[in-house]
Amino acid sequence: MASIISQCSLDVLRQAAENLKSGGLVAFPTETVYGIGADAENHEAISRMYKVKNRPADHPVIVHIADLDEVDYWAREIPDYAIALMRDYWPGPMTLLLRRTEKAKDYVTGNQNIVGLRIPAHTVAISLLQEFKKIGGHGIAAPSANRYGAVSPTTADAVSAELKDYLEPKDQILDGGPSLVGLESTIIDCTQNNPSILRPGAITAEMIEETTGIIVVEPEDIKIRVSGSHKQHYAPQAHVIIGTNAQSGEGLIAMSDIETPHGAIRLAAPQSIEEYARNLYSALREGDKQGLQTIHIAPPTGEGLALAIRDRINRAASRP
Ligand code: TXA
Ligand code: MG
Repeated sequence: MASIISQCSLDVLRQAAENLKSGGLVAFPTETVYGIGADAENHEAISRMYKVKNRPADHPVIVHIADLDEVDYWAREIPDYAIALMRDYWPGPMTLLLRRTEKAKDYVTGNQNIVGLRIPAHTVAISLLQEFKKIGGHGIAAPSANRYGAVSPTTADAVSAELKDYLEPKDQILDGGPSLVGLESTIIDCTQNNPSILRPGAITAEMIEETTGIIVVEPEDIKIRVSGSHKQHYAPQAHVIIGTNAQSGEGLIAMSDIETPHGAIRLAAPQSIEEYARNLYSALREGDKQGLQTIHIAPPTGEGLALAIRDRINRAASRP
């Protein structure tokens, strides 16, 4: 059990930072999805966080940092194009994979020589990171706050539903309202001459090319393990079918211009791609809450964020 804290005053955030420093776990909002955080330099806390998530111990985890000054603590040999990306898109929905320093231990990097860094764009997350830095912390390791393989939570209630049975009383869940982006950050490999996207998100290939002036290439080194890249991930309990052919009693998620077949249960009718991204996971969760056996999803067309949405839908629909 862990309590949800809805008024995240500076005092609360200070106390949450102290809690992290003494080995506690703190779930916090970001603009993408909620994360379950642990001190990125506390092996024991991270091991417990992995147990709470039921995640294999050798998976790497993103280190969230307060500001650009922390980058050199964790990463080295940073290419110019990565610095350009940091300047343009941090704080924001982007994770950069960089060569690690000796500070990034194997329990954070999954035994790889690469560390994943992100500055999130959410006032609660940023304030928590700043308070943590004031007391000597350098980063908060935080995967999405769901059980392994499940849909990422975009609200504090969803975090509680996923993890409450596994958290301890001293752990905390900070409520910062619904996540505005709603899909996990874009993961960009910055260890090669050109950037490549390992997980699509709100920062698109076009945006990366515009900022860096260099071409985004296909990931060549498939040795890099990205857990969200396992084929079935981000999956609800319900069976997910791609399309609009929902029968009576089945769920449907589709853009608002697609009609709901008679008797089907409309879980989301977004009017824009941004709204689609923001509501996809909460709609899947709602389907599970209603006990639906089957949810039909009509993927949005187009590039950019639509591509990231299709990526998650395809994963939710694939059976092991
Ligand atoms: O938007 C997000 O990225 C959210 C919020 C909480 O920041 N976090 C998130 O974390 O989605 P997670 O652990 O659920 O997914 C992060 C992905 C994982 O698939 C992990 O394998 C990959 O990032 N990753 C993290 N560090 C890495 C590293 N050093 N090398 C390769 N992949 C890494
Ligand atoms: Mg995840």
